[in-house]
Amino acid sequence: MKYSSVLVEEFKPTRSSRFFPRCIIVTFIAGVVFYSVYSVIQVPVNEITSGHLASGSIPCNCPFDFSQLESIDKQRLFYNRVPKCGSTTLITLIRKLAIRNNYIHFNSKIYDRKNVDEEEQRRIVKQVKSTPSPSSFDRHVFFINFTRFGESPPIFINIIREPVERIISSFFYRRMVARQNKTKVKPSAYWLNKKFEHCVLTPDPECTFLEGHNYSVLQLPYFCGQEPECQQLNDPRAIQKAKQNIEKYYSVVGTLEEMNMTLQVLEVALPHFFRGAYHVYHTLGVHRNQNLHKEQVKEEVKEILRANLTAEYELYYFVKQRLYQQYQTLIESRKKQDNLPFTTLDELLDYQ
Ligand SMILES: *[C@@H]1O[C@H](CO)[C@@H](O)[C@H](O)[C@H]1NC(C)=O
Ligand SMILES: *[C@@H]1O[C@H](CO)[C@@H](O)[C@H](O)[C@H]1NC(C)=O
Ligand SMILES: *[C@@H]1O[C@H](CO)[C@@H](O)[C@H](O)[C@H]1NC(C)=O
Ligand SMILES: *[C@@H]1O[C@H](CO)[C@@H](O)[C@H](O)[C@H]1NC(C)=O
Ligand SMILES: *[C@@H]1O[C@H](CO)[C@@H](O)[C@H](O)[C@H]1NC(C)=O
Repeated sequence: MKYSSVLVEEFKPTRSSRFFPRCIIVTFIAGVVFYSVYSVIQVPVNEITSGHLASGSIPCNCPFDFSQLESIDKQRLFYNRVPKCGSTTLITLIRKLAIRNNYIHFNSKIYDRKNVDEEEQRRIVKQVKSTPSPSSFDRHVFFINFTRFGESPPIFINIIREPVERIISSFFYRRMVARQNKTKVKPSAYWLNKKFEHCVLTPDPECTFLEGHNYSVLQLPYFCGQEPECQQLNDPRAIQKAKQNIEKYYSVVGTLEEMNMTLQVLEVALPHFFRGAYHVYHTLGVHRNQNLHKEQVKEEVKEILRANLTAEYELYYFVKQRLYQQYQTLIESRKKQDNLPFTTLDELLDYQ
């Protein structure tokens, strides 16, 4: 397997693919053992084999409307991860699922360049499109329009979170990282010991969001894209573009608050990437980036912030509603398809 040198620089394949030959042997042996055990307990053979990917083809039976798009590359998945929404845990999950479901995951270690110029966009598009498929990618980066570079876009996914809870989480996360001496410049004691409520009420620029000003720390630009207006607070063009992109390019956008529902929708919508997601996620244990010493923030203070983040909330409610609709649609379509009396997706997954 050959990767271009630029690719190796940024998107690193997971262990599973770097140790590919060994992995195949282990998988083969495990497969033989698994198969023998299954044969003994008399599970039909096609139930086992249908779970494996025919290499090079992913027939996507996504029950979503991709018809607005001329073409979508169903062999590639792009998770342009929004920070502070459980993305570290989701990457851990994807790495495990890549082994199970037989695809390669490429992880980017670039965390601080989300708004990238045309050259870098072109480079990312080229990297994504030049890897062997099926494959998945993650990077903290605002939406990239693959069509603009003459390429069919991958399936986009993402996870977002209640906007103010996310801002509070980042506030404490920044300080936790600084306290662990992970930052180059040591911040002042004043900054380190700043209280979130005080920061909002002062108001301190770190906790202030003013209409017309530009913010790269919000969730909306991840869906709107690289254009300057995408970062402008509450810009009507930005929210409109974000919603359009979600409808056109994102198969699933989940929420951290509804992680169980998100996993279930991912699993049924994109089985070739997410089969087993629900079960594996709940075996992962402790969430790595969790803040343990978060200050309790009063509801009134949260309300002050909420009042200024109109577009962030519009996006959040839009995503939440879409997720609920997908969940309902999936249950309905599965009921019809299999003519089975499922009422909830939990029951459906138990059956599989
Ligand atoms: C993406 O690029 C194509 C081709 O340049 C353009 O027609 C389309 O409007 C762009 N989409 C977005 C969301 O910017
Ligand atoms: C960070 O560095 C300071 C001195 O520069 C030291 O006192 C402190 O214990 C260090 N903290 C951690 C978590 O390593
Ligand atoms: C909210 O916006 C108002 C009006 O632009 C501004 O005065 C206030 O400081 C902002 N508050 C926060 C917490 O961003
Ligand atoms: C925000 O970005 C827009 C578009 O680039 C620019 O026109 C505007 O001046 C910026 N606003 C501020 C307050 O910097
Ligand atoms: C999600 O599912 C797990 C395992 O089934 C359960 O323990 C947990 O309580 C659920 N969480 C929520 C928020 O429903």
